[in-house]
Amino acid sequence: MRRVRKKEHIENYLKTSFKGDTLMGDIYLPHNSLPELNFDEIDTSTNFLGKKIGYPILINAMTGGSVFTQEINRDLATLAKELDIPMAVGSQTIALDDEESSESFRIVREIIGSKGIVISNLGGLSTLDDAKKALDMIQGDALQIHLNLAQEMVMEKGIVNLRES
Ligand SMILES: Cc1cc2nc3c(=O)[nH]c(=O)nc-3n(C[C@H](O)[C@H](O)[C@H](O)COP(=O)(O)O)c2cc1C
Repeated sequence: MRRVRKKEHIENYLKTSFKGDTLMGDIYLPHNSLPELNFDEIDTSTNFLGKKIGYPILINAMTGGSVFTQEINRDLATLAKELDIPMAVGSQTIALDDEESSESFRIVREIIGSKGIVISNLGGLSTLDDAKKALDMIQGDALQIHLNLAQEMVMEKGIVNLRES
């Protein structure tokens, strides 16, 4: 079910006209027509999680868990490597007990390499053991915990009882 759901999630997102908002419209850059700058000397790099990255931007968690989503993770990881920016993988819950699925997450570390930043991802109901497995799977530099109650509420067989979960 998780594998089907992940594919549907991508397909639904690609089909929808909703493109979200980058919030870039909320950023105001005051104009400076005489900047005393040499463009080639502009340094966009910064430090994050103890590592130097090319830009203060990251590719956020989206997918993984099947051959279909492995292709997407391969392409996103290639982009992250090229720009030297961090990437978070989609929820690894699907791969905790399924070695076959874990390849679609491992590929991100393989492409980005040990010097880059790869972030693990799990849901809020994960155990400490799950967290260790998810981090080990991709030598995660950090772990994102996603809390997506609204999505669970509308998903078929979503987790809606958090009192006993
Ligand atoms: C197709 C798709 C799959 C996603 N899967 C995950 C996921 O597995 N884990 C997670 O933490 N967030 C997931 N997200 C949420 C994104 O990481 C991000 O938080 C969300 O899209 C909001 O950012 P945006 O407004 O730039 O889209 C997913 C988003 C999309 C569009």
